[in-house]
Amino acid sequence: MTVLRAEGVRKLYGDFCALDGVSLAVEAGELVSVIGPNGAGKTTLINVLTGLVRPTAGSVRFKDRDIRGIGPVRLAKLGMARSFQLVNVFPELSVLESLEVAVVSRLGRGARLFGSLAGDRAVREQALEVAELFGLQDKRDALSRELPQGDKKLLDVASAFALRPELILLDEPTSGVSTRDKTTIMEIVVAASKRMGITSILQVEHDMDIVFAYSDRIVALHQGRVLADATPDRIQADEAVMRTVVGRGAA
Ligand SMILES: Nc1ncnc2c1ncn2[C@@H]1O[C@H](COP(=O)(O)OP(=O)(O)OP(=O)(O)O)[C@@H](O)[C@H]1O
Ligand SMILES: [Mg+2]
Repeated sequence: MTVLRAEGVRKLYGDFCALDGVSLAVEAGELVSVIGPNGAGKTTLINVLTGLVRPTAGSVRFKDRDIRGIGPVRLAKLGMARSFQLVNVFPELSVLESLEVAVVSRLGRGARLFGSLAGDRAVREQALEVAELFGLQDKRDALSRELPQGDKKLLDVASAFALRPELILLDEPTSGVSTRDKTTIMEIVVAASKRMGITSILQVEHDMDIVFAYSDRIVALHQGRVLADATPDRIQADEAVMRTVVGRGAA
């Protein structure tokens, strides 16, 4: 089953064409990685796919609904969430409070409308569950801004998970952290998505070891166009893609 489908997506910034007829699909159960050199259009693509940026032309459908320009709140209600390339945590909130914000926004206003103790407890329990899945339980009272970079990244991703989407889009979930932390983050992402019933992941990722190890499929972008859309094995064997997109010869 296809959860997300983009067809012929174009995005112009003035005269500059950031996306030039991009088509792709994400199936239920897949982990798809978008790769490509700096400026290839990866973040623009994620922004269009999550309804944050309206495409100049083309269509974006999530579970067969047009989601162009839909905005994050309605998107989360439909079952899609994202994290950002530059960490997007609430600096003055604690880890647990940040996750509670996400849980409340998912449950809707009803969760705290009457300030009920039972409602508060339910929110807290769900936030704690996510904190534990992401290994952040011991830091639950730390302020987000005081976390090391790897934990900030994890909290940003965990906040998207706390929305319990069916499809999650991650823009460079492991950027700016050490190689060891990258693998830890990916292991946590994969385990948490299984536990929480998140079926599909589309991520932008620069680290090719991570990309080849974790992806079911890879979409290679170059100058706003899809250069290749194939399994890791095929991408690795494709000399032209490896040279252009990865900056090294085929393995
Ligand atoms: N709001 C904007 N206005 C004008 N140009 C933009 C805007 N956003 C992106 N661009 C341009 O579109 C191109 C694609 O940018 P984008 O951020 O999507 O690339 P990227 O593949 O995510 O790169 P990186 O690997 O550096 O994150 C770049 O040339 C960028 O300068
Ligand atoms: Mg980017």
